[in-house]
Amino acid sequence: MNKFVEWSAALSVGIDEIDAQHQALIDLINEMQDAVVEGVERERQLEVLGRLAEYTKIHFAVEESLMRIFGYPDYERHKGQHEGLIRNMLDLQHRLALDQTPVDDSLMRHLRHWLLDHILQSDQDYSRFFLASGALSRHQKASWATRMWDHLHFCGSKCWS
Ligand SMILES: [Fe+2]
Ligand SMILES: [Fe+2]
Repeated sequence: MNKFVEWSAALSVGIDEIDAQHQALIDLINEMQDAVVEGVERERQLEVLGRLAEYTKIHFAVEESLMRIFGYPDYERHKGQHEGLIRNMLDLQHRLALDQTPVDDSLMRHLRHWLLDHILQSDQDYSRFFLASGALSRHQKASWATRMWDHLHFCGSKCWS
């Protein structure tokens, strides 16, 4: 069966560390989509959405601190895009918690569209700048993002409490 969001080379920003984080985000969106399609209970959907929101915040914080370190000139605009998505996710979490809005296909498609658009445009823009400023595109050992993902994957939301 096809995944809701498939990783492809076109999504690579050319920096392994960031690609690993984007892949983890895609895994979480796919997990959320599975929970929606399978109609699992609201608590379980909230748990997955909680992990997705937490990981998204971590990923954005990493990108934003790298932008500051490298002196990325488009930092404010990019940060504004991140803040918009975080607001949407928190709103969704809130409505789901109050049982006001079942997460449906159109909400998930909106999330997918937002993420892919952001990676393909805004994230590609900063990665070109980082690489031109001397960032390394790969390292010998597995990224810390991968280790963090393993940690998240195996202990779920309890790790964050
Ligand atoms: Fe990103
Ligand atoms: Fe970003």
